[in-house]
Amino acid sequence: MSLPADLRSWLAEQERNELLRFITCGSVDDGKSTLIGRLLFETGQLSSDQLAILKADSSLHGTQGENLDFALLVDGLSAEREQGITIDVAYRYFASEKRQFIVADTPGHEQYTRNMVTGASTADLAMLLVDARKGLLTQTRRHSYLARLVGVRRFVLAVTKMDLVDYARAAFDEICSEYALFAERIGIESWLAIPVSGVNGDNVVTRSEATPWYDGPSLLDHLDAVPLDLGADALKPMRMPVQWLNLPNQEFRGFAGQIASGSVRPGDEVRTLPSGRVTRIARIVTADGDLEQAIAGQSVTLTFTDEVDCSRGDVIAAAADSPEAADQFEAAIVWMDEHELLPGRGYWLKVGTQTVTATVQEPKYEINVNTLDRLAAKTLSLNAIGVATVTTDREVVFEPYAAEGSSPNRVLGGFILIDKLTNATVACGMLHFALRRALNIHRQHFDVGRETHAALKGQRPAVLWFTGLSGAGKSTIANLVEKRLVSRGNHTFLLDGDNVRHGLNRDLGFTEADRIENIRRVGEVARLMADAGLIVLTAFISPFRAERHMVRRMVPAGEFIEIFVDTPLAEAEKRDTKGLYAKARAGELKNFTGIDSPYEEPEAPEIHIDTTKMSAEEAADLVVEELMKRR
Ligand code: ADX
Repeated sequence: MSLPADLRSWLAEQERNELLRFITCGSVDDGKSTLIGRLLFETGQLSSDQLAILKADSSLHGTQGENLDFALLVDGLSAEREQGITIDVAYRYFASEKRQFIVADTPGHEQYTRNMVTGASTADLAMLLVDARKGLLTQTRRHSYLARLVGVRRFVLAVTKMDLVDYARAAFDEICSEYALFAERIGIESWLAIPVSGVNGDNVVTRSEATPWYDGPSLLDHLDAVPLDLGADALKPMRMPVQWLNLPNQEFRGFAGQIASGSVRPGDEVRTLPSGRVTRIARIVTADGDLEQAIAGQSVTLTFTDEVDCSRGDVIAAAADSPEAADQFEAAIVWMDEHELLPGRGYWLKVGTQTVTATVQEPKYEINVNTLDRLAAKTLSLNAIGVATVTTDREVVFEPYAAEGSSPNRVLGGFILIDKLTNATVACGMLHFALRRALNIHRQHFDVGRETHAALKGQRPAVLWFTGLSGAGKSTIANLVEKRLVSRGNHTFLLDGDNVRHGLNRDLGFTEADRIENIRRVGEVARLMADAGLIVLTAFISPFRAERHMVRRMVPAGEFIEIFVDTPLAEAEKRDTKGLYAKARAGELKNFTGIDSPYEEPEAPEIHIDTTKMSAEEAADLVVEELMKRR
């Protein structure tokens, strides 16, 4: 490939400032602290006193050594936090004569999967520690799998505590042959095993005489020599997600962001996505003046030669080779929250600088990373890894995360999911590909639109959404409201929980996931009916704010009217018209709303009905009155 002259010099510059980021993955008591301590000591970042403490501590207390050296050299990198991931990973820095190193250190236990994934997601290499006495543990397989999943391409197996097996070649060889099989199965192409002893320093910095049978490099020599995928991102086609608009005055329209891949020069033809408009780069502006060229990793402001609209979340890409946009994907997901995945629930999905609402379907499968088996799964709970279809409410400009033979497309292929209510990062994921059906199904435009339907009926459509506990009086009041509307000549339709659950939704029960799907379907039906010009009334418990909010967003502003039928639990239970509360209390009915399943009260309903203060007739009058006022 021919490169422009200054891209070459930039790459040469990078070679001189070589930086290798790696992650260390170990299990309890595998000698990680001692080994890392030894590396730091031999490269002059740790005093001999500190090393002595480390040695004593890790040999006496096992895992406590880990805490100690965390404390010695902890530093945080803020990049992950800026991306909205608040997971602590301890980072250490050290340098050899050739290279600088950033080590991400994460605890090995399964419960720290999220830390491990965070650390690995920016690593060039993973160092796996294997205790020579214990052999390959499931932890090592798990760590390899996760690191591979997030795009780490190079692996080092540091077989530690060789001194405790008398530097026996057999122990080392057995670990190697076992790992070779596993590495092949998960597609790790580049790995090297090194027999070491952190305590004695064998093969850590210099080759040890205790292992004459080993003819590979020492650990540090290997870290110094392992090829870096330098410039791999710079050689890919140009992409820059727009972070913010730089509009200091009328004359200047700039688009600021960090170049995710490729390079750009003034005059280059670019395409803005998802709009697809093509223009040329006019200037590359930075605080230190204009640039002749900008390369992956640099933060710049780009201006165009034409007035092309572009906003935060858009992607500026090489015109000749630009990424696709889609709204349905297959993705690998690592679940990182205590509260399990709720298929059908809307989460914020962040990819690049785009934030959209996304729902995840029931997983296609979960992966047992120890055995690599694919398990059937209805959801993903903490630390689970699965593959599922993800649907977004808008098109997302993306690239598949895994790039054949190159570094992963982390910026446009990696995403996080955020809970809309708690703002917690609940998962991270890797986009595999867009589903064909998303690319092949287009919206059809018809001549008879919702305005025509509404005009013909002489009314404005609306969705009157009644919500409240079972037995609160939703159906009763909705029924009275419908009678009043019909007698005024309105065209209406009433969707009721008990009825819909006999037909359209008879496959659904009362788990959280089923209730979410119940409301999603009812919302879609209500939307279609409102499009047909009807005033739709719905009577469903609809216990979750997130789904009520989702339906609100499905219809045009002002058409969704949330009516909270507020009956205290004690009152609904006293009435118990269907005898269900009694059953629930007796333990014969599981997941009953208000008893062992939650009800999230509306925070700002359009209409609030306190049924302890008014009759159903009065409530119906109130609703009709409110509706007329709003028209
Ligand atoms: S929702 O939570 O998914 O919105 P929906 O309104 O469709 O519920 O159905 C609620 C009705 O189903 C209740 O009025 C009640 O008659 C019946 N039901 C049966 N089991 C349950 C349960 N476990 N929780 C709540 N309602 C139940």
